[in-house]
Amino acid sequence: MQEEYLLRIKDVSKSFSGVTVLNKVCLNIRPGTVHSLMGENGAGKSTLMKCLFGIYRQDEGQFFLDGEEFNFEDPKHALENGVSMVHQELNQVVQRTINDNIWLGRYPRKRGFVDEKKMYADTKALFERLNIHLDPRMLLDKLSVSQRQMVEIAKAVSYDAKIIVLDEPTSSLTDNEVKMLFDIIGVLKKEGVGIVYISHKMEEIFEISDDVTVLRDGSHIGTEKIENLTMEKIVNMMVGRDLEERFPPKTNVPGDVHMTVKNLSTKYAPFVQDVNFDLHKGEILGVAGLVGAGRTEMVEALFGARTLESGEILIDGKKIDNSTPHKAINNRFALLTEERRQTGIYPVADITFNSTISNVKSYKNKFGFLVDHKMKEDTDKQIGAMRIKTPNRKELIRSLSGGNQQKVIIGRWLLTNPDVLLLDEPTRGIDVGAKFEIYQLIIDLAKNGKSVIVVSSEMPELLGITNRIMVMSNGRVSGIVNTEETTQTEIFNLSAKYLNNNREAEV
Ligand SMILES: Nc1ncnc2c1ncn2[C@@H]1O[C@H](COP(=O)(O)OP(=O)(O)OP(=O)(O)O)[C@@H](O)[C@H]1O
Ligand SMILES: [Mg+2]
Repeated sequence: MQEEYLLRIKDVSKSFSGVTVLNKVCLNIRPGTVHSLMGENGAGKSTLMKCLFGIYRQDEGQFFLDGEEFNFEDPKHALENGVSMVHQELNQVVQRTINDNIWLGRYPRKRGFVDEKKMYADTKALFERLNIHLDPRMLLDKLSVSQRQMVEIAKAVSYDAKIIVLDEPTSSLTDNEVKMLFDIIGVLKKEGVGIVYISHKMEEIFEISDDVTVLRDGSHIGTEKIENLTMEKIVNMMVGRDLEERFPPKTNVPGDVHMTVKNLSTKYAPFVQDVNFDLHKGEILGVAGLVGAGRTEMVEALFGARTLESGEILIDGKKIDNSTPHKAINNRFALLTEERRQTGIYPVADITFNSTISNVKSYKNKFGFLVDHKMKEDTDKQIGAMRIKTPNRKELIRSLSGGNQQKVIIGRWLLTNPDVLLLDEPTRGIDVGAKFEIYQLIIDLAKNGKSVIVVSSEMPELLGITNRIMVMSNGRVSGIVNTEETTQTEIFNLSAKYLNNNREAEV
């Protein structure tokens, strides 16, 4: 008999040290479809997939592939049996080549030696099939995070799996790469592959899903065909109530000019050229632009993380020296980086340490000892304010879900009590409910007189929480607009303003 479902997950439960994370979860995947798995940060999505993939062993429940029960010992076993997975956290050997990373542990051999030629040809063929333009001999640390993500996706495809799990694959991809990934998914669907797709980006879910399953607190809430769903319905299933408002009211009132930036240009590529703007006290200034417009480089330059060709930063009219991040921190700047999972986490330390590490100085008493209770108090406050899902602050940060790890890092920078807060994609990987919490924190900071810069690729977010928006295009500022008076179209047009300029002529 032909099975209706390629993969069946039946009543899977899992707990970690007594805390139930999955409670009798069921999930059925039809061949040739994309089944999206949704739920708030910490709902159990990654854990369920790790049980399937042999990373964790479920406490109870069964898995069936083509009607046959299986239980993978480890990821290798899963890969050999037609299940492959792209993880939420990239786990690559960056000192090795693309080739090595794709074929690690399964090198084609010829008379006992690794067959380099075949390996190269195989990667080439794979990349051609997937329309990826990278030289397989390149070292991974020469690639951007998004290119590394594409390599990981190609690797998952290379196993010719029947089931491919994609756990937040697009969190660091550019628009163009997302399109490429969706094309790849289209091809795989035609070949009858079943895809489990995890993402917090609603637009994507509606673009590529056939079926959607929602988990909440480790329980199966519902499975529906995408035609029967609306965004409101999904959000309601995820958080258990209607979310009336996506954004809190903007109660901050911008005051006098706090920071002035003059002629800021970076010395090395990717270039930022001649950036000039004012930032007011209590203001939230958005930064919009296409990927590659220089937004991240601009905030890094302000924070002393890039060498300047020229430029001045004035605070309250006085020139300051932000030539290193250390100096910037002393000048009460804070930068939340875009790639916080790669750059910001001390995985084997607990939440308290990870929350307070950037602010250790302020926890010392007059004898130089750390005041433990103050650290604990502040950590608990952040766990509460951002609804970080964890049994307690002593938990190792690596045992939190991806989104909750991000919240800890955001909290860390908020605790440094900065005057100028630079946030690069603050809500990436954060679920819809928790986004509201983070917006509220940002607005509260501005209300208390802090100046905030928010770089974001999400237009609704920029329009929802900022007072003004600075648009960047090809490394320059193409316009600064009042949020109340602008439109999406105006911002798109400004984003494209310098795209056709030949920059070589100017450099
Ligand atoms: N190894 C572990 N030890 C202890 N607790 C864990 C471990 N792995 C996951 N958890 C807990 O299980 C819960 C579910 O985590 P999971 O990573 O599955 O969430 P998720 O739905 O993928 O969330 P996100 O959207 O943030 O990625 C979380 O509360 C997390 O802290
Ligand atoms: Mg996850």
